[in-house]
Amino acid sequence: MKTKELVYAALFAALIAVLGLIPPIPLGFIPVPITAQTLGVMLAGCFLGRKTGGLSLVLFIILVAIGLPVLTGGHGGLVALVGPSAGYIFSWPISAFLIGWASEKIWLQVKTWKLVVINLIFGVIVVYLIGAPVMALITNTSIWAALIGSIAFVPGDIIKAVIAAIITMQLRAISPIEEKVQ
Ligand code: BTN
Repeated sequence: MKTKELVYAALFAALIAVLGLIPPIPLGFIPVPITAQTLGVMLAGCFLGRKTGGLSLVLFIILVAIGLPVLTGGHGGLVALVGPSAGYIFSWPISAFLIGWASEKIWLQVKTWKLVVINLIFGVIVVYLIGAPVMALITNTSIWAALIGSIAFVPGDIIKAVIAAIITMQLRAISPIEEKVQ
């Protein structure tokens, strides 16, 4: 791994921490909030590609694990990694990796709509498929109830998928992902 890739990974871990300064939107009926941090997950995947994007989220989880208050609302620590949000948080490196993998595949014919579709599949559906069952397990509810509860995240996550695609298209002239697919 090159120094440049490590720097990008660290930079995006920091960016996701900064997005955590945006207050969470709590939902009374589900113990997991709406967060702006998934925008950072999608951006990391789209912009950095699978390897560096995935690594940036691994770094971010390490920051959480050592107790830094980098999650939305200023929380962090091991308690966050075993709570109702745990599955969602652990899905983020997988999500960034898969978004990066798919983005690399289409990079030479990249279009905003293609990145939106990739973000919706790997940045929304995959995240829910991992996060909701873990939340159900931890809160002792049914997986279906957890998945149905996750519908509340959909409007915000669609907006984040579109914003991440638009920003990536703007930044693609300096994108390190291009170097990887040439
Ligand atoms: C945390 O406790 O800070 C993590 C919150 C996880 C939020 C999940 S990620 C996917 C979905 N979209 C959101 O905006 N919120 C949930």
